[in-house]
Amino acid sequence: MRLMQFIAVLLMPAALAGCVRLTIAWADLEPSGPPATPDIWELEGVGVAEASSLTASLWENAYAPVIRRQLQEHVYGYLPDASSISVKSRTVVDENAYGGRGQLEEIVLTATATFEGRTVETPPFMINLAVPKDLTGSVPIIISESFTPRWVAMGHEGVSKPEGSEDFMPSGIIRSVLLFVFGRYVGTSPVADILDRGYAFAAMYPGEYVPDEAEGGLAALRSLSEGHAEDRTRWGAIAAWAWGFSRAIDALEEDPRFDKDGFVTYGHSRYGKSALLAAAFDDRVAAAISHQSGTGGASLNKRKKGESVKEITDAYPHWFSEQYAAYAGREDDMPIDQHHLLALAAPRPIFLGNARRDVWSDPNGALKAAIGADPIWKSYDAQSGLQQDSYRSFVPEAVVSLWMRPGTHGVVEEDWPAFLQFMDAHFQ
Ligand code: GCU
Repeated sequence: MRLMQFIAVLLMPAALAGCVRLTIAWADLEPSGPPATPDIWELEGVGVAEASSLTASLWENAYAPVIRRQLQEHVYGYLPDASSISVKSRTVVDENAYGGRGQLEEIVLTATATFEGRTVETPPFMINLAVPKDLTGSVPIIISESFTPRWVAMGHEGVSKPEGSEDFMPSGIIRSVLLFVFGRYVGTSPVADILDRGYAFAAMYPGEYVPDEAEGGLAALRSLSEGHAEDRTRWGAIAAWAWGFSRAIDALEEDPRFDKDGFVTYGHSRYGKSALLAAAFDDRVAAAISHQSGTGGASLNKRKKGESVKEITDAYPHWFSEQYAAYAGREDDMPIDQHHLLALAAPRPIFLGNARRDVWSDPNGALKAAIGADPIWKSYDAQSGLQQDSYRSFVPEAVVSLWMRPGTHGVVEEDWPAFLQFMDAHFQ
């Protein structure tokens, strides 16, 4: 083994400090500890309504716009006022990819973001597609973002890489250790299995337009949002990556091979946060599969376990707005919490994945957020929403479906069957 690799293996536990902390504790299966999630119908800035008038249309017209504004103001920073895309090319890379199950394609596009009348264009970025062969109609499509680039995520050698790019997913023993710790599918998805189930799959690497690093990320975010005067509420990378899911839908929605009611966002961890935010702000997102999204995702901010607002904003200053960082240690002052984010997806289905020893991403806070958001699904349909009150069951048919497995932070072999059970229940 080369010396550097040896040292890297030795240092890995330290590099994964957050994850190491999370492996020594267990998440509760029942909702535990304070607070009982505040009543979602009680919202600052919206008058308290009579119980009989708490309807889906009141939610859509009076609550949702206020909550969208508050989530931008207090957590994620502001999304563009307007956006557009320009598709530069669409290429078939391999007609018979994945053992002949699907066609591999590549779309090159740029997007524009307009803030306060100033429009800025992203550098070109790509979407890779795997589309089932011999389609007779349209199919749902799972759109993924991941911390590994598309050429790793798609698991196909034909995917083009920007010049000079590294493989990112290391090889040899480091790769084995990484996959052992974070699971077989942490950096790739089982594309052949997804195609076999009748779904198309798309991979984006949002680092192509907003890199996941403090300095470069903040610079890209700032340059795309030049027209937004206030630094305090400038968008962070989670918002920009969520916006990327919507730009992918822009590029795919006129393609007759994809079901217009079948655009599903998928992401793990930081991209699980973005997958939820995309569903909250873009109703073309038909469902979100958000795995271990944690703080700034499905888990409540107030009196939480696991990663605190201070820890996340110190370690990743480019992910959220400065305003969110300013709430560190005084989360109770926030006028909203993450159950508001979840509720904006209603009445559409959401899947929240968790692991028993991933206390860092606070499964309990996600369960309490789902319970807190549930009245909104029920306002659309009393039979809808959560069909579980703990992690003791998994109900993929439920419109709000929470999954808990043993183990730690990552995407392991048993996660994808659960994601696909949820897909089948809602899209077959
Ligand atoms: C870190 C971070 C989490 C994030 C995770 C990931 O652990 O603290 O908030 O979800 O990285 O994206 O894998």
